Order: sequence, then structure tokens, then C-alpha cells
Amino acid sequence: MKKKTLYDLKNIKGKIALVRVDFNVPIENGKVTNNARIIAALPTIEYLLKNEAKIVLLSHLGRIKSEEDKKSKSLEMVANEFAKISSHPITFIAKTRGKEIEQAIKNMENGSILMIENTRFEDLKDGNIVNFESKNNPELGKYWASLGDFFVNDAFGTAHRAHASNVGIATYIKESVVGFLIEKEIKFLHDAVYNPKRPFIALLGGAKVSDKINVIDALAKKADKVIIGTAMCYTFHLAMGKKIGKSLAEPEKIDLAKELMAKYKDKLIIASDSVCALEYKDIKGKVYENIPDNLIGLDIGPKTIKTIKKELKGAKTVIWNGPFGVTEFKNYRAGSKAIADELINLKGAITIIGGGDSAAMAMEMGIEDKISHISTGGGASMEFLEGKELPGIAAINNK
Ligand code: 3PG
Repeated sequence: MKKKTLYDLKNIKGKIALVRVDFNVPIENGKVTNNARIIAALPTIEYLLKNEAKIVLLSHLGRIKSEEDKKSKSLEMVANEFAKISSHPITFIAKTRGKEIEQAIKNMENGSILMIENTRFEDLKDGNIVNFESKNNPELGKYWASLGDFFVNDAFGTAHRAHASNVGIATYIKESVVGFLIEKEIKFLHDAVYNPKRPFIALLGGAKVSDKINVIDALAKKADKVIIGTAMCYTFHLAMGKKIGKSLAEPEKIDLAKELMAKYKDKLIIASDSVCALEYKDIKGKVYENIPDNLIGLDIGPKTIKTIKKELKGAKTVIWNGPFGVTEFKNYRAGSKAIADELINLKGAITIIGGGDSAAMAMEMGIEDKISHISTGGGASMEFLEGKELPGIAAINNK
């Protein structure tokens, strides 16, 4: 890794570490429903605690466009969850700048943790959208940088954004490093894409082709096979002249689907059959290759599962992004479940699951410990796989 890492920091005892984490976690009724991103940040935080730094945590939570948003998106709930799962006490200051924060930092003891309020509260000022955080306002980046001695960016999930709390702080502080989570994410994703053990198979699901065109293109160049599952496959089905009923598709992307199929005809595998229902509901479905007009495809069918199992046999690198069916419906998760079973039984393979929905699915299936790496990044992992530079990482000091 050409970026400085935590091990490049010297004499950090008593120093103030500004640590950008991605604690943008799902919350329902005031409770965190998936704490994977918090757990993933613990190695960095614990390393800094062990070395007696003073840790100031910064994160965003959701998107802030109104005063109403602020009420439901305070990081205090996340600070409570952090304290619960890590057993480390944490002081939460419900401000994003000002005297209260500055005084609290002055009073910090070595090896203690403080968290400030949701960095995106800075996107709203007196009820107006100003996007100070999201547009990387230099004055804000400079201010946050002035609060610490060095900066640790460990927010992989936010690394594709150039915001004040990542790029801004890194620009204005003397020393910046990446944390252990970013190091691990980059190592897995980089090695898989640029130095894969072969056969290398990519599985791409999710709703829209338009979201994943660049990923399909980039991965098809590197992988041995790219398998496209629901719901993305229906745009390809239209391109092949198949009937898709009421299934989700993007007719305006048919030409693009045709182009991709022609360009990568030896590599692209499109799901062939689907389990279909009368409506988008968790009711028992029937299998079709050409979907009748009144039905909607919600999962891959047995023929596709058989093909995928065959392709996965002996695979040494697998990247899976996007569930292959509506996994929140118990009648439509058989496809994803079959893939998951195959993945966890591959011998000597590097298996990577990326993307917010896929990561949640892996947790729900309880396979997270049997997969080599589950990425905490949705958009960030996609942009990395596309070969784009991630600004949040690019801004960190080189070794
Ligand atoms: C994510 O969940 O993908 C990251 O936290 C970034 O969030 P954003 O898409 O609101 O910038």
C-alpha cells in the first residue's frame, strides 16, 4: 500500500487523533439494525486506544436536507450502540463545531473516545441547504483539521466522496494515514481484481443495469466469467428478444445490453430462468424462461442455479455484488442461498461479497465468517471495481 498506515505514526501517546469512520448504519425506531460497520472500525480504534491516543470520531449518518432529517439522524444512537458493543466509554457532543467540542477535547484523557455530531448536519444552515460537508467547504475542513494532531481515515464506505470530513481534513492536517479497515478493503479488492487467482468469477445482481454498466465492463475485462442475475438480467432478456412480463427492466438500455453481450460473448452469462409471481409479494412462484405478461420475475430459477454451480466449481476468486433475487422474501431467496452455499464450500478460494444489500444478505444468512471478505462499501466498492480512484483515499499522505 503506497498510502501511510497506522504503523507509520510515531509517538502518538497523548496526541489527538481525528478518526473518520463510516457509521452510516441502518436505524429503525431509534435502534441500529446492522452494526457491521461499527464492528469493522474497532481494530483501528482499539489500536489507537492501546497506544494512548485521544480519539475524536467523525461520521455522517444518512443525508440531511431539512431540520426534520436532523431529528432522526443524530449520531447519538450510534454512539450508544458503539459503547454497547465495544464496552469502551464514549463521550458524545451534539455539535459539529464550537467551544463545547474544543473544551471537551482539551479535557480528554489519554486513551479516551469522543464523538461529535453527524458531519452532514453541516449541510444545513438556518434551514438552508449549504452542503458545507458534502461540497467539501474549505473553511470547514480547515476547522476540523485544527482540532487534531493527525488524521486517520477509516471510512471505506465514504471513500468515493470528496467531503470536508475526509478529503477536507486530509488536505489541511499535517499528517494523515488510512486505518486498518481501509487497508483491508483495498488489499482484498485490489488483489482480487488486479492479481486474481484463477478461475476468477464475478456475480452481479441488483436492480439496474445503468448502475452497473461500468462494473460489468471493468470486471468482464479481468474475470474469466461474469454472471448477471436478477433483476438486471431482464434488460438483457429484452435484448435477446425474450419475454419478461412485468419484471423490472430498463428498455432504454437494450442497445447497451446488446453491445455488452457482443463484446464479451465468451464471458457474460445471463440468468436464463426465473421464479415468477403475480405481483411483487412474498407468495409462492412458478418458473419460466419466457415470462408471461401478467407475471414478475423475483428470483433466478433452477436451470440458472445449475449453471452458476457449474461455473463456480473450482473457482479460486469470486466477487459477488448484489443479491440474485428478492432476498427479503422467503419465497425468493433460494437462488442467493444456493450461491452462498456454493461459495462457503469452495476450497482455497478468495470470496468477496460487496455492496450494502449483499453485505446485509450475507449477515442474515449467517455466512459472514465463512467468506474471505465482506466489503463495508456499497458505492465505494463499486467505484473501486470500476477502476476509479477513490478521493477519500487519494487525499491521504503517501508513504
Ligand atoms: C454508503 O452507505 O454508501 C456511504 O456511507 C455513503 O453514503 P452516501 O451515499 O449518502 O454518500
